[in-house]
Amino acid sequence: MAVRNIVKIGSDTLRKKSKLVSNFDEDLAELLDDMKKTMIERKGVGLAAVQVGVLRRAIVIEIEPNKYLEIINPVIIEKKGKVVDSEGCLSIPNFYTDVPRPRYVKIEAFDRNGNKFEFEAEDYIARCVCHEIDHLDGVLFVDLTKDGINYKKSKGVV
Ligand code: CO
Repeated sequence: MAVRNIVKIGSDTLRKKSKLVSNFDEDLAELLDDMKKTMIERKGVGLAAVQVGVLRRAIVIEIEPNKYLEIINPVIIEKKGKVVDSEGCLSIPNFYTDVPRPRYVKIEAFDRNGNKFEFEAEDYIARCVCHEIDHLDGVLFVDLTKDGINYKKSKGVV
């Protein structure tokens, strides 16, 4: 396992749409292992593959202390409620702002072996899931609020 470099805001890569994972093979396993190691090393709670420069729909989230969920090709099939809370991102160092997110989400996704599963999340974990799925479509949390947009302007990044 290796710690990979995190792609930072300002890079075009973060704005690209990630492609579906079609091969549930050793390369995917290595990517997920590296993402987990990188996330732990950088003290994050979620990481999308695009953040290590790989445009595939793969996510790792710490759902409980030292318990990690791998999410491949996720689709949100249900969402409820709205909560506004603080958010940050390993690709956007030293900036945090309040972002509205659903209070509850249900997703359909695949594990690293290609097995389909459903996952329900509330509050903080629902926030993480939505944040990471946004990454797969080139969306960053700073796109979602006025504060975030002002941050991008102040830094001259898109
Ligand atoms: Co992020």
